[in-house]
Amino acid sequence: MDKLQIEGGKRLFGEVNISGAKNAAVAILPASILADDGLCNIDNIPDIHDVKCLENIMVDMGIALTSERDGHVKINPNTIKTYSAHGENVRTMRASYYLLGALLGKYKKAEVAFPGGCSIGVRPIDQHIKGFEALGAKVTIEHGYIKAEAPNGLKGANIYLDVVSVGATINIMLAACKAEGITVIENAAREPHVVDVANFLNSMGANIKGAGTDVIKIVGVDKLRGCDYSVIPDQIEAGTYMVAAAITKGDVLIKNVIPKHLESMTAKLIEMGVNVEEYEDSVRVSCDKRPKAVNIKTLPYPGFPTDIQQPFTTLLSVSEGRSIVTESIWEGRFKHVDELKRMGANIKVEGKIAIIDGIERLSGAEVMATDLRAGAALVIAGLAAEGTTTVTHVRHIDRGYEKIEEKLRRLGASIIRITDNREYFE
Ligand code: EPZ
Repeated sequence: MDKLQIEGGKRLFGEVNISGAKNAAVAILPASILADDGLCNIDNIPDIHDVKCLENIMVDMGIALTSERDGHVKINPNTIKTYSAHGENVRTMRASYYLLGALLGKYKKAEVAFPGGCSIGVRPIDQHIKGFEALGAKVTIEHGYIKAEAPNGLKGANIYLDVVSVGATINIMLAACKAEGITVIENAAREPHVVDVANFLNSMGANIKGAGTDVIKIVGVDKLRGCDYSVIPDQIEAGTYMVAAAITKGDVLIKNVIPKHLESMTAKLIEMGVNVEEYEDSVRVSCDKRPKAVNIKTLPYPGFPTDIQQPFTTLLSVSEGRSIVTESIWEGRFKHVDELKRMGANIKVEGKIAIIDGIERLSGAEVMATDLRAGAALVIAGLAAEGTTTVTHVRHIDRGYEKIEEKLRRLGASIIRITDNREYFE
């Protein structure tokens, strides 16, 4: 059980390179299964646990997948031996459900263990199932597995999502791109990673239009082929380093980003009095005074991303004045608040709302990462706190952040990883 030990108070200066987007990569890897021939050469795959986990699942299914050190992955999906994905790896991560859409789209059958993921609330998949059934598949859930099959093939359909869902939008695209006829997804998610998956599928020969808007049209094609592709940069990793620069009153150039994907976070930081300068593929964040309190409400893209809410809550906990944070996407995404309170934060959670009265400075403590972005929020708290902060259960952070302590150390943070192989009770 690794820990991160941080000496607070070091201002961050210098440059940091952002890695490929986790939430794009974990969809694009399974999407490569849809290639009928040829190889998929995918660049800018982040070196994170969720990707490793997914790669292992795909290799266990017989897929020829090789990943190289520099984030390049080569896949020949046509050595696959089975249409079902079993085991611990499948159950621990959320994105394994993309295997359903890819296998169903290509082989018209799939069996995947019920997905896991961060404990940020109930994580239903009713909209995924609604989409698959609309395309003509029969979906059953038994013995902890989701089984989908369409012996008579898949036919295009009009699908209206009852709730804006990134996963359901992507999974329906995967299943529909080789279906007979036209599929229209309405009330679709518009996140950058949804667009990235659509671009990847179109590079394989799919016919998808409208990704990035709330109406996506997919015209089914007979064959898809391997392609060369590079994953977009991770907007949430970028936002995390933007907050780290602000809270430490540093001056950091965050490189290899798409500034447009960061707009809502940039706007919020500027509202707080933080300096943000946008360049072609980087943003510079600097702050020389205590940020001001602001209100935040998480919404589907292009609204304020729920995945950056927890790091921002940390920044607001030391900002001047009272902030109200409304988490409208996940009902269990304030677990980091109890840990911030151990560090002196003054936050009251009432359902989906957190009322934050900023204090001058947090004090270092031993705190526990309960999920991926909560862990990031606690690391950020440690960077600015007085004294030493130890963040435990770092495996949650390793799921979505590549080399976090190396990147922070290079910016001047005092942070070390302590590897502790003793087993702890959760
Ligand atoms: C993706 O999860 C991301 N994960 C999450 O990021 C992110 O928080 C979320 O999108 C929202 O942006 C990956 O991409 C792997 P949703 P997903 O389906 O697809 C409800 C991180 O930190 N819903 O967009 O599971 C659901 O309860 C992770 O990187 C249904 O009701 O999220 C939620 O309230 C955490 N029925 C809302 O929709 C469904 O069938 C949005 O969920 C599906 C979702």
